[in-house]
Amino acid sequence: MGTMKRSKFQNLIDNAPDIPTLPAVATKVIEVVRDADSTAEDLRQIICHDPVLSSRLMRMANSAYFGLPDELTDLQRAIVLLGFNSVRNLAFTACLQSLYKSEYRCGSFTASSLWMHSVSVAVISRMLAERIWPEFAEEAFLAGIVHDVGIIVEWNLLPERFEQVIRAFEGTGRPFGEAEKQALGFDHRDCGSAILRRWGLPKHLVRVARQHHGSRKEPASLNSESGALGDRLAALVHLAECICAERGNGFIDEPRDEERVMAVLGQIGCGHEEYRNIVDCTDEELDRARTILAL
Ligand SMILES: [Fe+2]
Ligand SMILES: [Fe+2]
Repeated sequence: MGTMKRSKFQNLIDNAPDIPTLPAVATKVIEVVRDADSTAEDLRQIICHDPVLSSRLMRMANSAYFGLPDELTDLQRAIVLLGFNSVRNLAFTACLQSLYKSEYRCGSFTASSLWMHSVSVAVISRMLAERIWPEFAEEAFLAGIVHDVGIIVEWNLLPERFEQVIRAFEGTGRPFGEAEKQALGFDHRDCGSAILRRWGLPKHLVRVARQHHGSRKEPASLNSESGALGDRLAALVHLAECICAERGNGFIDEPRDEERVMAVLGQIGCGHEEYRNIVDCTDEELDRARTILAL
């Protein structure tokens, strides 16, 4: 999409009445996400007004993973234990999950498999970041959680045409994005970036939605100081996506692309052996995350 067309598209998304909206708590969590000066106390004040979210966080803090000797009952202490960034991510993840909690299915596509895929990509993106750019680890999780959000927009906004997408995709062996372009004239990168903008999410997450299947002008290396955060996160999510495809954690079966994997590894400066190590640890990490997220 060109710039002109994209802004028209943004207008369409901004004014569509049937577009999924984020729960009010999530909007407040996003404000905290955007503000570098926010503290754990700012988060507590938002979360304490939401009993469902509060009890969920308490359950996470008391999960076997943290192995506490006594049960925690105080939200403030739970936030301190879990850490500001992970509480932010857990809260945002819980809010976003409500949008995927639909019985929607079409052919082999289901809303719940898309959610499980998003969580897998988030967990693997964080694992990759921990080894390569540890300072962005929690941001990489958020990037993974939102990367395919555009697909929700498609079936909410244009349910009949989304059925055509699935039909154009299933059994054809072509990439999902091509089937979307054919049936809709746009793909989930277009509406994903538009809805994240509408929701007021930071620019680097918008860029992840746009570039998580690669971009036309890709820098050879993202390791220099000048590499933009959005480009780096998009590359991590892209690689996580490839790992998911290899391991069958996709929401649909997409063709594997070994060449893409090698290209992204080169960009982020990760050796092939290190990459295999990460892939070998994914099962354990996914199990751990499912326990913490109570999935
Ligand atoms: Fe995608
Ligand atoms: Fe994906």
